[in-house]
Amino acid sequence: MDPLMHLKEIYLKGNSGIKPIIPLCYEELESKAKKALPKNSYDYIYTGAGKHIGVSNNQSAFKKYAIRPRMLHGNASLDTSVKIFDTQLQSPFLFAPIGVLELAHPKGDLELAKASRNLQIPMIISNQASYSMEAITDTLQNMDRWFQLYFSKNYEFVESLIQRAEETKCSAIVITVDTTILGWRQMDLQNAFLPFTLGKGIAQYTSDPVFKKLMQQKPSSYNKMAITPALIVNMLGALSRFPGSLLSNLVSKDPIKAIRKFIEIYSKPDLNWNDIRWIKSKTKLPLLIKGILRSDDAKIAMQHGVDGIIVSNHGGRQVDHVISSLDALVEIKSQIPASYPLLLDSGIRTGTDAFIALCLGAKSVLVGRPYVYSLAINGHQGVTECMNNFITELHIMMMLSGVKNLNELSPELLVKN
Ligand SMILES: Cc1cc2nc3c(=O)[nH]c(=O)nc-3n(C[C@H](O)[C@H](O)[C@H](O)COP(=O)(O)O)c2cc1C
Repeated sequence: MDPLMHLKEIYLKGNSGIKPIIPLCYEELESKAKKALPKNSYDYIYTGAGKHIGVSNNQSAFKKYAIRPRMLHGNASLDTSVKIFDTQLQSPFLFAPIGVLELAHPKGDLELAKASRNLQIPMIISNQASYSMEAITDTLQNMDRWFQLYFSKNYEFVESLIQRAEETKCSAIVITVDTTILGWRQMDLQNAFLPFTLGKGIAQYTSDPVFKKLMQQKPSSYNKMAITPALIVNMLGALSRFPGSLLSNLVSKDPIKAIRKFIEIYSKPDLNWNDIRWIKSKTKLPLLIKGILRSDDAKIAMQHGVDGIIVSNHGGRQVDHVISSLDALVEIKSQIPASYPLLLDSGIRTGTDAFIALCLGAKSVLVGRPYVYSLAINGHQGVTECMNNFITELHIMMMLSGVKNLNELSPELLVKN
């Protein structure tokens, strides 16, 4: 859709008394999603690490920049397209990989896939999705997609995930390196809620041939849980979510075995650069690292043949008081060759945030929580509405700043307060 049509439509619908369903103001979006979701689910999406200083750093970093629009430099049409490896983007947005989207919507990943196709915005399919990558790519059809990998303790399983990503025609692999263990997330801890232990968000595992073999092996150790009515309800939920009938799952205990094996192999605390070299040897697809926040790490990544970096602090969910992704982008950009692909993730709340990140050297940006809240409010239509707002606002900002295409976005358009 022509982005300016979206703007006109909003006002014209207003004449018929129809208001936007997805709040344009981020704080209102959060509170509408909060009303729509169970507490544990909302908190899981909302929470950051510790006191949430890292979360707020992400957004306050954008406030440090003022825009210096250029006048009488206008044009009637814009080009917001950009190519990253073989992925042609019509607008510089990607959907950040978000696990356990079933917390926001029962068909989360599939609804997102529909929005991705409608909008032509690629999805980065999460390692912790609630649907297998095969099911998600069936819905995506020809739409471009990338796969986000978490390195687990079992190399054969990681190799199988990479192979499946290639078979399902994902066009890049994104390895997330900031989650070698889970961050200290106060709200989830207070709720004593981790969806994976209920069998949610482990579909890439339970659909994998290597994992299916692994889960039949005895786990090295596990903690017994107190048998309470809540445990019975939760385990029945896990049995019904798992592929196969409730009865056969009850007899085989496969869902319980899968959860235990997942807990045993999930994440690799000793992840290191040899593992990055190992992934490079296993795939011809472009490899991006998500979670780099320092230029020295970025340089090492380049030396290891990594094709691009997603500058990210995981939405402040891992390390409290963490540097904002935007500040990290500026430091990294200043130290590496101009042509090396840097993408920005964490803290994008509006089209104007995207404008600033692109001026500071990001080739494109990842949107996270805003699309998850929109999914919770109105499924794929909610995501489409949210992203059309982002695209249109970016378009307007470019037109009002005298910019014709993304190449013309530069630090020269900004001043630091
Ligand atoms: C609920 C939730 C689940 C997430 N799951 C993943 C994941 O599976 N893999 C991953 O690399 N990042 C994951 N992330 C991080 C996002 O990819 C992204 O870095 C983050 O949402 C950016 O911050 P923002 O949403 O505040 O902009 C998750 C984030 C949230 C909020």
